[in-house]
Amino acid sequence: MLTDRIRLFPLMERIVTADQAAALIKDGMMVGMSGFTRAGDAKAVPLAMARRAQKEPFQITLVTGASLGKDVDRVLTEAKILKKRMPFQSDPTLRAAINRGEVMFVDQHLSETVEHLRSGQLGPMDYAIIEATAITEEGGIVPTTSVGNSTSFAALAENLIIEINLSQPLALEGLHDIYTPTRRPTREPIPIVACDSRIGLAYMRIDPSKVAAIVITEQADSAAVLEAPGPETDTIAEHLIAFFVRETAKGRLDLRASPLQVGIGNIANAVLSGLASGPFERLQMYSEVLQDSTFALLDSGKLVFASASSMTLSEEYAGRVLKNLGKYRDRLVLRPQEISNHPEVIRRLGIVAINTALEFDIYGNVNSTHVNGTDMVNGIGGSGDFARNAYLSIFVAKSVAKDGAISSVVPMVSHVDHTEHDVDILVTENGLADLRGLAPRERARMIISNCVHPDYREQLGDYFERALRRGGHTPHVLEEAFSWHLRRKETGTMLAHSTIKRSA
Ligand code: COA
Repeated sequence: MLTDRIRLFPLMERIVTADQAAALIKDGMMVGMSGFTRAGDAKAVPLAMARRAQKEPFQITLVTGASLGKDVDRVLTEAKILKKRMPFQSDPTLRAAINRGEVMFVDQHLSETVEHLRSGQLGPMDYAIIEATAITEEGGIVPTTSVGNSTSFAALAENLIIEINLSQPLALEGLHDIYTPTRRPTREPIPIVACDSRIGLAYMRIDPSKVAAIVITEQADSAAVLEAPGPETDTIAEHLIAFFVRETAKGRLDLRASPLQVGIGNIANAVLSGLASGPFERLQMYSEVLQDSTFALLDSGKLVFASASSMTLSEEYAGRVLKNLGKYRDRLVLRPQEISNHPEVIRRLGIVAINTALEFDIYGNVNSTHVNGTDMVNGIGGSGDFARNAYLSIFVAKSVAKDGAISSVVPMVSHVDHTEHDVDILVTENGLADLRGLAPRERARMIISNCVHPDYREQLGDYFERALRRGGHTPHVLEEAFSWHLRRKETGTMLAHSTIKRSA
């Protein structure tokens, strides 16, 4: 019944088609859209915008929570609508346009975007397009499978377009906890003291007079695409779990008290799956995305509570979870990404953060975003929010990529997302380097012994020994620091048997 979905009845008059709503968006506007890692995104209006652009070209700045599903980023890129895009994406077509310099991409810590918006640093937002489960009697928006940045978009945008998605179950109502930090200079502490703290409302407060259009849709979220765990990712998970066991025995870690954050991607998902067969019970998550593995852990009873900003599920899990929300209601909360990723809360809760590196160097600097320091992959996402503020900051990676042609451990990273100061533990399938309390020279020895693929160990050891002869707190042979990346470009591989015997 539509009256269950739009309970502030005068708003019924604003129902229009997606094409009519898309016509409201004009060239040069800044548009905020709901959507966080393919969940809860606006689906009909952006696709209608792309249809319109074929006849009537226009360009916008598009701000979202994170990546979008339903190929929206691809379709908008192909329609040449995107002038600027922030703060995260993971679409191959958009990625290519960014790397050709056609779309200006602002790669931002996910907790930060709305701070910049709120203080006027990004300019005014003309429209927010937000997917909703329902509009309450007071005109509040009940989000769907993600909250992302929608709360602040809805409050700050001059006009609102709401997509009521009939395929999103009404049972989602009550799952969200919507809280916006108070204004400076009298901002108060965010009162989250545990994963399950509820501090806000179950809906986003809006000014109903700003609602310019309501569009009715019924398309489900795009399904998550994840590879099944493989031998390397399983081994990474085993190293990490063995480390957790050792730390627990030493009295330095209690995973019942330190919530987990697990980043996006195949490796991170495999690590969480590994915990399902590990010895830990009564785990908690304070993360930004909940993937299938979270629900497998909730089902097994090993995870007692999960807090995040979105649920990004495979088709199988989406069917199972969305039909049985009652089963998870007391153990799940979805928050604005500003809160799920807030440095203050992350530091307070003592989070164990597990994120993925593309490459890291002998001193522990991590590159999560740029191939060869130039080509964007996805973006930093929330990894920086968590890495800097976590109780334990862990990065995982396979030790080689592209069938061994690339070593993920290099002399110097070609782009830095997480500095050595933000990285405690590095793990590859070869082993784990515990960098806590180690100086750069000690870190290098630990990383080379434990993390590097055997094919590259001697080559990296040779680089480090020659760097030591040059001296310094963080020794390098500067003219060779990027030689591995250059060799890969020139010869197709980072392997350089001929250079191993050279002396500095
Ligand atoms: N150089 C070039 N390419 C590399 C590489 C390197 N050093 N290391 C990995 N790759 C390639 C892989 O070959 C693979 O390519 P393919 O898609 O063509 O097969 C791709 O990068 C992904 O690598 P994979 O090993 O499958 O890891 P992943 O799916 O876990 O993704 C990141 C890894 C780093 C791209 C991903 O985790 C990410 O975008 N992280 C940044 C955002 C983030 O951490 N958010 C966390 C909070 S949710």
